[in-house]
Amino acid sequence: MSAESTQLATSEFSHPNLEVLFTKEQIAARIADLGAEITRDYAGKDLVLVSVLKGSCVFLADLMRSVDLKLTIDFMAVSSYKDQTKSTGDVEILKDLSNPIRGKDVIVVEDIIDTGLTLSRLLEILGSRGANSIKLAAFLDKPEPRIKTHVSVDYTGFVIPNQFVVGYGLDAAGRYRNLPFIAIVKDPSAA
Ligand code: IMP
Ligand code: MG
Repeated sequence: MSAESTQLATSEFSHPNLEVLFTKEQIAARIADLGAEITRDYAGKDLVLVSVLKGSCVFLADLMRSVDLKLTIDFMAVSSYKDQTKSTGDVEILKDLSNPIRGKDVIVVEDIIDTGLTLSRLLEILGSRGANSIKLAAFLDKPEPRIKTHVSVDYTGFVIPNQFVVGYGLDAAGRYRNLPFIAIVKDPSAA
């Protein structure tokens, strides 16, 4: 085996099944813009960034460092039933927020919005808790498969076509979350 093929075989970051869609540099530039926008919009407010685990952890880590305001963070974990044949949009809370959001200005931070089922249910749940405002930041927006059309994203990183992507927190069967870029999985059956 040559040195080159050894490297290909062992590198997750240059896996032949991946095609880079957004580089690390493009992502950093976009997040800086989003952070500046949120900084302007939330000046003087009691901002809490609510990250939906696990996919949005990387986005949250970068986004929070580009918002120049006093803020807090919190985490939720949910499981949706989108993989079952009967797609009910039911969402089970696996981990709830650590602190109340009553009176606070909340931005729900998601990795990607696809059908919108998970988020519409999550927004309903959070909507009953007396927050002053609730908005949504999604790193990626895949508008094509949207079922819940009323779910609108207030802060979007990138709008992408209806293709399966990984990296920057997003996974395929738990893998690829650590890629520093966003990539299209060329052959999802081989992912
Ligand atoms: P939905 O909006 O309820 O359909 O679900 C969104 C969730 O599906 C996201 O939080 C991801 O976990 C997952 N998801 C949707 N599209 C992709 C993708 O292209 N790559 C990885 N995960 C995805
Ligand atoms: Mg997710």
